[in-house]
Amino acid sequence: MKQETVTRARQVIARCKTLAAFSEDAGSSRRTFLSAPMRDVHRTFAAWLEPLGATVRVDAAGNLRALYSAKEADAPKLLIGSHLDTVPNAGAYDGSLGVVLAVELLEALEGHRLPYAIEIVGFSEEEGVRFGAPFIGSRALVGRLDENLLNQTDARGISVRQAIEDFGLNPAEIAQSCLHEDVRGYLEFHIEQGPVLESLHLPIAAVETIAGQSRSELVFVGRANHAGTTPMDLRFDAVAAAAEWITMVEHTAKAIPGLVATVGSVQTKPGATNVIAGEAKVTLDARHSDDTVRNRAVEDLLRHAKDVAERRGLSVRSSQRMNQPAVRMDPFLVAQVEEAIVKTGCRHHRMASGAGHDAMILAEKVPAAMIFLRTPGGISHDPAESVSVDDVALAIECGLHLLDQLASAPTFQTRTLRA
Ligand code: HGY
Ligand code: MN
Ligand code: MN
Repeated sequence: MKQETVTRARQVIARCKTLAAFSEDAGSSRRTFLSAPMRDVHRTFAAWLEPLGATVRVDAAGNLRALYSAKEADAPKLLIGSHLDTVPNAGAYDGSLGVVLAVELLEALEGHRLPYAIEIVGFSEEEGVRFGAPFIGSRALVGRLDENLLNQTDARGISVRQAIEDFGLNPAEIAQSCLHEDVRGYLEFHIEQGPVLESLHLPIAAVETIAGQSRSELVFVGRANHAGTTPMDLRFDAVAAAAEWITMVEHTAKAIPGLVATVGSVQTKPGATNVIAGEAKVTLDARHSDDTVRNRAVEDLLRHAKDVAERRGLSVRSSQRMNQPAVRMDPFLVAQVEEAIVKTGCRHHRMASGAGHDAMILAEKVPAAMIFLRTPGGISHDPAESVSVDDVALAIECGLHLLDQLASAPTFQTRTLRA
């Protein structure tokens, strides 16, 4: 490993930590769709990218878009990127690493121009924290940031459209953020966010498929009442009903190989110690690499929720926030990633991603591939999330091999895109 690459890896890690400080919360990282700290992030990337000869802009969906032109005009384009938003109390690498590492690849080119342009994209919202709907930024690039999504509102009743206007952007220009025919592929470097690579003692790997995911919101409605005077058999306790259902979610997921299901949020009303809850709002996140298995499991769980509510004399309503099918990465690009990984001296490995990524949205329009970096301790979506300098250095080496391979790959230069 060249010392220069290790130095570059240290810079990537330091830059991710710089970005992590841009947060809506003091003392922890939270950066949701077009929140104020996102301006600091955009400004910081511009300061890193403009000296490299890239032109930097923010599109109408709030995505950072940095173009590093090719040797010739009207050359094809390669996108490299990831998301810049985070979950609450986030780590420093989920999303940011993929964009910062892309900047490092440009820096390593030292002004050399390729037979294709590189556009670095920092997506504005992948996690779906603010509006409950993920992939807002990447959906704009594939033409799916539609009226329905623009009208979705956050906890304060602000719509996606309003959030875009409040940030000083123009929703009427969203169509201009769409990808054009010149894009030949999308690469995303991302932490694995799980224990697999660490268990295999592998630093980097190629992603072959991304699991499909469903996100729903359920509201159990009972009757609020006094906690001291209401006998147990006369209660319509929304939290007790939700709790019974939540244990069914865990039981169902444990019984179906490859299924993961999570109730990540429980909000109760009125939320006082001495009041039986009249309402319990819960979220469901279910994932599987086989869409049929996932969809059937979600249908069963929603039916169980109705049964629990009826048996207890309550009602329950549910709304689906997302149904994202599983996605295979592009075979040609996956093979290129593997070839680049082997050139770094690592054993190649292909794996599925349990986490969702913008690559699964971009794959609707352009060939997409991902490179995973090992996640020490398998911890993610938490400040303990980390990466090692050596693994980042290997990812940079892999990325430079990839750029080199694609520069002399006729398939990459000439392939036509999905309709
Ligand atoms: O939730 C996920 O799969 C990703 O971290 N957005
Ligand atoms: Mn995430
Ligand atoms: Mn992510």
